[in-house]
Amino acid sequence: MSAGTFAIPSPFEWDESFDVKVGSINEQHKRLFTLINELDADRTSADKLKALLDYVVLHFKTEEDLFEAHSWEGGVGHKATHDKFVEDASKVTEVTDGVMDFIKNWLVNHIKGSDMRYADFLSGAGAA
Ligand code: FEO
Repeated sequence: MSAGTFAIPSPFEWDESFDVKVGSINEQHKRLFTLINELDADRTSADKLKALLDYVVLHFKTEEDLFEAHSWEGGVGHKATHDKFVEDASKVTEVTDGVMDFIKNWLVNHIKGSDMRYADFLSGAGAA
């Protein structure tokens, strides 16, 4: 699994460098870090994998609703990256080292490389 542009924090925890200026989204991102760590610690748990994927879907919907509510021009392309992740992650049947690397890399690089693009716009539009 190729590494992304941004380094994976170790321990794998949210920090201020992931701040997208929208408090509710920051809280969801923190929850995603937690759920990923819980899966990493219990890789054979189908429940933990499902909990993560369910929360990912909820989180993506939250962002996409904000894009729509504020008519953000990047919304359609951003949603496509969400859909691709859900498609790929839904195929996971066994949580290997490679799968964990993929999930962690994706989250870190998606927040820093993609979510950051809406930070100024949505915070400026009053999203909180
Ligand atoms: Fe925070 Fe676009 O996912």
